[in-house]
Amino acid sequence: MDGSIATLAARLRDGGFVAAEEEAALLVAAVGADAVALEAAVRRRLDGEPLAWIVGRAVFCGLPVVVHTGVYVPRPHSEALAWRAVEALPVRGVAIDLCCGSGAIAAVLRHHRPEAVVVACDVDERAVACARANGLDARAGDLLGAVPQRLRGGVDVLVGVVPYVPTPALPLLQRDTFRFESARSYDGGPDGTAILRRVLREARSLLRPGATVLLELGGDQHELLQAELHRLGYQVDPPLLDEEGDVRALVARTAAQ
Ligand SMILES: C[S@@+](CC[C@H](N)C(=O)[O-])C[C@H]1O[C@@H](n2cnc3c(N)ncnc32)[C@H](O)[C@@H]1O
Repeated sequence: MDGSIATLAARLRDGGFVAAEEEAALLVAAVGADAVALEAAVRRRLDGEPLAWIVGRAVFCGLPVVVHTGVYVPRPHSEALAWRAVEALPVRGVAIDLCCGSGAIAAVLRHHRPEAVVVACDVDERAVACARANGLDARAGDLLGAVPQRLRGGVDVLVGVVPYVPTPALPLLQRDTFRFESARSYDGGPDGTAILRRVLREARSLLRPGATVLLELGGDQHELLQAELHRLGYQVDPPLLDEEGDVRALVARTAAQ
């Protein structure tokens, strides 16, 4: 195989990849000039495998993030949530990146708040290993059960991209999603709010007064959660909106003392 970037890009373009030139350059940079390895990498990509798994990294909020095969690839649409979490985190505060996957959000927090305590949590051991490869303090466990005892009651920022896709909508996700990624990253129950509700309930005892909770969501989930947020005593800030004006994340605070 001719391993020039132009030739690889042509094959990727024929395979329907829009950013073919960019992807070809990334593949060559990651795999090197070995023709056999390069051919294997291109075939994986043409088969629909996430680019980040093949090259072993992604860029999130301008930072390089290690992404192991099998671990959710951080998405550009979650970057606004990460930036908002940075804003909310005091210089020496405590933050939890819940359902961290590769730990991309935690990595952004640590980069911009190097004196803060940042802990990344995920139920999937592969995600925890990947977050550790990103140099993070990562813990394995079911939702907030993974948060270290010593931090309970002292958390300033809880941020998460928890599974929030309604179960009936899972078949509508991109064709390749479940050929490569696990439904556990996405499935949020009948209306997508099952895990969000659990997090909001269980977080109360972890958060300090005046703490901020930032959770990605979609569709009408922000409305669906209003009663629960008020019942649990959260103060609700305006949600994060995307460029189309759709709600992308809830922002809530615990009452200041
Ligand atoms: C949509 S991914 C988000 C990953 C990361 N925050 C990001 O944006 O790149 C959701 C993650 O939630 C994790 N997860 C699913 N159920 C969980 C649970 N009960 N407790 C902890 N983590 C869970 C999955 O393993 C997956 O890594």
